[in-house]
Amino acid sequence: MKVIWNNKIVDHEEVVINPEDRGYQFGDGVYEVIRAYNHIYFCLDEHINRLYSSANKIELTIPYSKEEIKTLANQLLKESNISTGDLYLQITRGISSPRNHTYPDVAVLPSLTGKANEIIRNTEKLTNGIKTSIEEDIRWLRCDIKMISLLGNIMLKHEAHKKGAEEAILHREGIITEGSSSNVGIVKDGVIYTHPDSHFILPGITKLVLKRCAHALGIPMSEESFTLDDLKEADEVFCTSTTLEIMPVNQVDNWTYSVTDDSIVRRLQRAYEKEIEKQCGPLL
Ligand SMILES: Cc1ncc(COP(=O)(O)O)c(C=O)c1O
Repeated sequence: MKVIWNNKIVDHEEVVINPEDRGYQFGDGVYEVIRAYNHIYFCLDEHINRLYSSANKIELTIPYSKEEIKTLANQLLKESNISTGDLYLQITRGISSPRNHTYPDVAVLPSLTGKANEIIRNTEKLTNGIKTSIEEDIRWLRCDIKMISLLGNIMLKHEAHKKGAEEAILHREGIITEGSSSNVGIVKDGVIYTHPDSHFILPGITKLVLKRCAHALGIPMSEESFTLDDLKEADEVFCTSTTLEIMPVNQVDNWTYSVTDDSIVRRLQRAYEKEIEKQCGPLL
């Protein structure tokens, strides 16, 4: 199995993680998940731009150009022979010893790793939707950074999992922020609502494509925060992420929502598939 290791593609076994890598010790790093269909990445530029933006927000200088990272990502996809799958790319602040919270002031080379996995689309869930639970958003206040320290997110996802739900929908004092690993939206009276981009949420690439789809379909979309009550009264609920795409939600705690073929979420899903097909070719 091949992986990205700094500026090379190597066998998985060749990678050595140093215990003093700041990613390993502090969760000091950022990452991206990029979806591929038909051996081609979807929204590659947007993901690479966000990787640089996240790195910039934590003053981590990526020692490679965007073109170099894209070349490595494409090479890995090819060598891994992935058709439909995900690339996980992460960059940490590198190895610095002895362990010290302060950013190292000498030139320390950040560690880049990447791995691609074949993961097919879950068409059953995309058709019928998923169950979710409501959890209190206990995370820090820089959720706009796609960082590898995901303890808050995984604790919340685990709470959802214990309730038999697939995703946690998070709120801060009654305002819905996002999911534990997705953005969240509702449809009410023909209008789509999602939390505006801010330090409370990750600016999702899928949310960006959703906005384009809504615009093309003439469906009004308001990036305006909504409450738990609005969620309860919503006509439709959905999550968006690179891996979930536009995923209908059929249940939030005990509240249920119908997922029908003439729903707005379904129309958005079809438009999203067209966006994929424009970049990556026909979906089977
Ligand atoms: C917390 C969180 N919000 C939102 C998203 C959606 O982002 P994207 O659509 O870019 O995958 C993710 C994706 O992993 C996430 O982890």
